[in-house]
Amino acid sequence: MRHFNIDHCQIEIGNIETSSFDEILSTRYGKNKKVILVDENTHDACLEYLITAFPSLEDAEVMLLPAGEENKVLEVCFQVWEAFSDYQISRADVIINLGGGVVTDMGGFIASVFKRGLDFIHIPTSLLGMVDASIGGKTGIDLGPFKNQIGTFQHPAFIYIDYRFISTLPQEEVLNGFAEMLKHALIADAAHWNQLIKVNPYLLAENQSLQAFIEHSAQIKINVVQQDPTEKGIRKSLNFGHTIGHGIEGFCLESGEPIAHGHAVALGMIAESYLSFKKQFISEKELMQIVACITQGFDYVAFSLEAKTRITELMLNDKKNDHSGIKAVLLNGIGNVHLDVIVSQSEALDALTYIDSAFSGN
Ligand SMILES: NC(=O)c1ccc[n+]([C@@H]2O[C@H](COP(=O)([O-])OP(=O)(O)OC[C@H]3O[C@@H](n4cnc5c(N)ncnc54)[C@H](O)[C@@H]3O)[C@@H](O)[C@H]2O)c1
Repeated sequence: MRHFNIDHCQIEIGNIETSSFDEILSTRYGKNKKVILVDENTHDACLEYLITAFPSLEDAEVMLLPAGEENKVLEVCFQVWEAFSDYQISRADVIINLGGGVVTDMGGFIASVFKRGLDFIHIPTSLLGMVDASIGGKTGIDLGPFKNQIGTFQHPAFIYIDYRFISTLPQEEVLNGFAEMLKHALIADAAHWNQLIKVNPYLLAENQSLQAFIEHSAQIKINVVQQDPTEKGIRKSLNFGHTIGHGIEGFCLESGEPIAHGHAVALGMIAESYLSFKKQFISEKELMQIVACITQGFDYVAFSLEAKTRITELMLNDKKNDHSGIKAVLLNGIGNVHLDVIVSQSEALDALTYIDSAFSGN
């Protein structure tokens, strides 16, 4: 079991049955109500195990959230808050978020503002949740096509990262988590990057090093957040691939054909690596290595010129911007970054067009 702390948030990575979870439930929250938030898939794949392994959860209230990014919205939060009121949830009670990044982002947000804040615990069940979304205290929901526009900085009281949940995760979701692992390596750890590019992404779930990779990737995130909890500096590096990635994700949400967050970030990383190359921050060889790694794992998505233009418009409303324009994180070699690089709308359009050539090999 590996133990970490970010402020008062305790993070344990390893077998949840030998973690502090059982003891925390009986000592810290013994007399209090427990609510478990799940989505349809984690309800079917993960809930029974948790309740069987931890009998003190037998009388927990289970609340089912609709799965998918399109449901990471205020209307769903509203229903949960009403249910909390019906169950007379008090400030002393605890919310357990059992799911991927959608459940932990939205469940964290729901808990962080109800009665001005309840304790919550994240148990991430997707790879993306384990290495990234559950860590760092960003909670949030989307506002139309704009990602995570409403939210809080509020750490969970505890995070339990247990690889067992990967066993039921669909293959495409393993890939989506891999995208954030690649991001962590690209922004902070060239040696880790050199390990990950040798991995066949389609066999990642069976890779003997998966646990070590998850631990390493989660540690990169923990390390960055410990240095800069409120994203004034180095934490911005975690947004690599996300300026264009969030534009793509928002556009797809708006068009009624959602794309997975990890997939959008993978495409965003191709585009933002291209911008890094154009600004001479990385070499052509480095760009080609990144493109080869991402295009072998992730599917191509074609966007018309009109769609690309709309994506750049959505980027103008990105949370990271101020009034000076679109701000992106670009690579500075592999394993380092340039923060707050201003990117014009035409550069962003050019980078989106580059995604087409990256996949066609031209
Ligand atoms: N807060 C942060 O710092 C942060 C960082 C990165 C991403 N995010 C957010 O995370 C979200 C993406 O997370 P995600 O990729 O986990 O998406 P997700 O929560 O939608 O999970 C992906 C899919 O896998 C299913 N699933 C999850 N665990 C499962 C399991 N063990 N077995 C079977 N099915 C399972 C889910 O039901 C869902 O259908 C986005 O909303 C993104 O904005 C937040």
